[in-house]
Amino acid sequence: MTQGSAAAVTGKGADRTHTGHVSVVILDFGSQYTHLIARRIREFGVFSEVVRFDTPATEFPATAGAIVLSGGPSSIYAVGAPRPDPAIFELGLPVLGICYGMHAAAEALGGRVSPGTTREYGPMGFDPERGHPLFQGLSERSQVWMSHGDEVTEPPDGFIVLGRSSDGKIAAMGSDEHRVYGLQFHPEVIHTKQGNRLLENFVRRVSGIEGDWTPRSFVEETIEDIRSTVGDSKVVCALSGGVDSSVMSVLIHRAIGDNLVPIFVDNGLLRKNEEHDVITRLHEKLGVKIDVVKAGDRFLSALAGVTDPERKRKIIGHEFIRVFEEEAKRVGGARFLAQGTLYPDVIESVSVKGPSATIKSHHNVGGLPERMDLELIEPVRTLFKDEVRKVGAELGIDADILGRQPFPGPGLAIRVLGEVTEERLAVLREADAIYLEEIRSAGLYDDIWQAFVVLLPVKTVGVMGDERTYEHVVALRAVHSHDGMTAHWYPMPQDVLERMSARIINEVRGVNRVCYDISSKPPSTIEWE
Ligand code: XMP
Repeated sequence: MTQGSAAAVTGKGADRTHTGHVSVVILDFGSQYTHLIARRIREFGVFSEVVRFDTPATEFPATAGAIVLSGGPSSIYAVGAPRPDPAIFELGLPVLGICYGMHAAAEALGGRVSPGTTREYGPMGFDPERGHPLFQGLSERSQVWMSHGDEVTEPPDGFIVLGRSSDGKIAAMGSDEHRVYGLQFHPEVIHTKQGNRLLENFVRRVSGIEGDWTPRSFVEETIEDIRSTVGDSKVVCALSGGVDSSVMSVLIHRAIGDNLVPIFVDNGLLRKNEEHDVITRLHEKLGVKIDVVKAGDRFLSALAGVTDPERKRKIIGHEFIRVFEEEAKRVGGARFLAQGTLYPDVIESVSVKGPSATIKSHHNVGGLPERMDLELIEPVRTLFKDEVRKVGAELGIDADILGRQPFPGPGLAIRVLGEVTEERLAVLREADAIYLEEIRSAGLYDDIWQAFVVLLPVKTVGVMGDERTYEHVVALRAVHSHDGMTAHWYPMPQDVLERMSARIINEVRGVNRVCYDISSKPPSTIEWE
């Protein structure tokens, strides 16, 4: 088994013994930037994983080649402040403490940390000891990002000051004998101008780790892992056509061929041509056999008369599980359920705040593994979203699947405001298809996080020819976002809006008015329901 894929396949965390690529272990003390440290290090081709701050040294993966202590919101002298296992400093591995991580290292090794006389926050000059390998290639003074109250006032015995902030405070310390270093600032954020260089120096020069963790190595090793875990058994998974489930399906299919049964549930709430597009791309081009279940009638009858958004979601979730379960049983002999859990969910579950049970519901097919007595495999659980895309490209998946905007599990049901009927879905589908077509032909698709049309539950008066009309209104929505948590409405060019509006009103029967949504999140949400 190899690292980065072994843990992935069986869904377990850093408690396993890994072999393979030398990695960097990041102890998470609760900084909002911890995941960025992992991402940056991975960009050097070095696998890195986040574990809880108190992970005992004896449980570190055998492949660990260096340790990073993340920042965190606490003060090291506060009651109950998180502390690392002191034995991690005895492992003989290079350690880099960042901000709170530096304080934790200093305190553990006998240095002194004090409340700062002034709080340093934001950009600040940094003058490093440039002869040191950690700072090789850095300029004499560079801009770094500070965010702290406490500071190291006396480094531990055997440590020297390796850099000061422009106001003269200790901003870096280290001991080549102990191979322990500390930075008062955050090298992982983009505001630290040469932060990447610094992290790379730590990983490559100080720790001597080579970058050999690549999308190709990930694919090869994960395929091997899946084969050895699954053997001749069957694996079922829910295929939505989104990036994660598509990449996961192709990956497993490469490993076990048609013993993978991806189940695509047509819930009747999909966009125009959605099913056809997904099937064509994955089946015809990549050979993945897909089990399509036509269940639109079931979903629509369950939704009849329902207008409350949360009830719609519940009904759809519930119905999905029933359909999936029936279908998986029909397949016969399935022993595993594959799920497209991603690394951010894993990080969330090791967070300082305690293991979190809130794996997002759309990543988790509502308790199915227990209900159906299936073992779980999660082949991409060590990857961030952009890494999933790179793995997808390595597998030969089309760019337009990999670049797809997110689409919610309940589908168009939460975009047909009010009651969901076949007739209203048809109107929305047509309008939405035109909208996305115009976005694509204007070259804006990749610039937008998410774009879609909403059918409103009101009718308005219009005039067509000499006739008075009384028809549907649709709202166009497009937003910029990084992660869906916050969003800003997208400034759609006026000429594009004009074309969209004209085409929708002319081509979609039953629509006589188009609006553009200019609300951001918060206080609005991305979806309307
Ligand atoms: P909101 O509307 O909460 O949306 O700002 C944030 C992101 O989540 C998606 N979304 C959902 N995805 N099931 C899903 O799988 C849902 O019930 C659901 N509701 C919202 C939304 O499309 C956006 O990307």
